[in-house]
Amino acid sequence: MALLTWSNKYSVGVKVLDNQHAAFLRMLNELHGAMMKGQAQAVVGPLLRKLVNYAREHFSTEERLMETAKYPGLAKHREEHRELTGKIAEFVGRFDRGEDSLNIHLLNFLRDWLNNHLREMDHEYEQWLHDHGIH
Ligand SMILES: [Fe+2]
Ligand SMILES: [Fe+2]
Repeated sequence: MALLTWSNKYSVGVKVLDNQHAAFLRMLNELHGAMMKGQAQAVVGPLLRKLVNYAREHFSTEERLMETAKYPGLAKHREEHRELTGKIAEFVGRFDRGEDSLNIHLLNFLRDWLNNHLREMDHEYEQWLHDHGIH
């Protein structure tokens, strides 16, 4: 069962960002699937790393668009991205050192964060970006 399924309620009305958000959900589900099957660290590790790199890439795309549109909420939004990136990096560090395994708490945390972030913060820039010609 998927951890989180993409639906239109997640749309932020900007094609490139919707595609990235959907890809991020797929990666999260993939990671969840691997964990549920009890796959080894050798499988989970690269999936986790892929997800983290993708999150970084997505955050920078999103921030670049907000910057282009001179979005007034950029600083606050960037701060939230930075906070999550830091938390995940900390976890990945522990995972790499073998101090931690991937667990359902982390996945639930990521799912909840994504769910809230998409529907609240990411949703807030939609109108502004549209008004500044970004679709
Ligand atoms: Fe965001
Ligand atoms: Fe986003």
